[in-house]
Amino acid sequence: AEPVAPDVKGCNKPDLPAGAKPIVCCPPNLEKKDPIDYDIPKWETLRIRKPAHDYDDLENYKKAVSMMKSLPDDHPHSWTQQSRVHCAYCDDSYNLYGQTHTKLQVHFSWTFLPFHRWYLYFYERILGKLIGVPNFAIPFWNWDAPQGMEIPSIFTDKSSPLYNSLRNPNHQPPTLLDLNWNGPGDVDTSGDEKTNLITMYRQVYEAKRPLSFYGSPFNADTPGKETSGTLELVPHNTIHNWTGDITQPNLEDMGAFYSAARDPIFYGHHANVDRMWAIWKSFKRNDISNPDYQNSSYVFYDENENLVRVKNSDAFDTKKLGYVYRELDLPWLNAKP
Ligand code: C2O
Repeated sequence: AEPVAPDVKGCNKPDLPAGAKPIVCCPPNLEKKDPIDYDIPKWETLRIRKPAHDYDDLENYKKAVSMMKSLPDDHPHSWTQQSRVHCAYCDDSYNLYGQTHTKLQVHFSWTFLPFHRWYLYFYERILGKLIGVPNFAIPFWNWDAPQGMEIPSIFTDKSSPLYNSLRNPNHQPPTLLDLNWNGPGDVDTSGDEKTNLITMYRQVYEAKRPLSFYGSPFNADTPGKETSGTLELVPHNTIHNWTGDITQPNLEDMGAFYSAARDPIFYGHHANVDRMWAIWKSFKRNDISNPDYQNSSYVFYDENENLVRVKNSDAFDTKKLGYVYRELDLPWLNAKP
């Protein structure tokens, strides 16, 4: 089989859910550029991503996001373009390289974790570049521990660029996050700590086999036959849906692929998903050596506006990408059901 990659010359209109306002999600100037292989910088110091409830770089983050939001929509570093990266890779904008009918969808398979790691990596690098702070690090929404089991206050201040109005009005702080939220029909909207911790134990610690944690293979021969890994299903999907606005047609923003990354909380959520991957690896479990997995690749604009191609195998160690997560207690490790 062949690894998957986006055919950037074959970027088309996305396939949006009913009720969504039409948009095009292809990055700007694709016709004028050929992607170059990304050169990973040599890092002098590591960036340290910290939990949202104890984040000491909020002023820089707000400043950087405001700058993104004031760039013209067609600038590759604009807030609009950063959010459309998600739409492009998740709403069928790209053909799979070498194929004309099959689309690249990075969810529901082993591409989920590495794709989002790279996505956040460039988001963070661009923010740092905009404010001239090369070591800038984004916060993570620490939903796996009691301190993080509600929407973090850095995202709920209405005067902040990190605020977004399209969120579930019934899930505002101090409503406790429900990692097993079943969607708008789930009337019992508040979770409980103990159940959340047991859920974390089951979805991260107990998912010992790489393919159950990462998701099933996705290569040029198996498009459309993929299944999500345990972390992607719960709590990743459930938190997206829990956060999105039930008064919108598709739980926008967080509850729909095309709109999720318009909400600044998306990047905090995914930083914790990414952190869970790093923690899972610290349990010394086997990784996936299949070359289709190792060589799957994606294309992004980097902080210097170069169109670059990056591959999964360069994303297995956060230190190689210049960052680490602050170490915190993992109360769910003792939450065996
Ligand atoms: Cu690309 Cu949280 O989904």
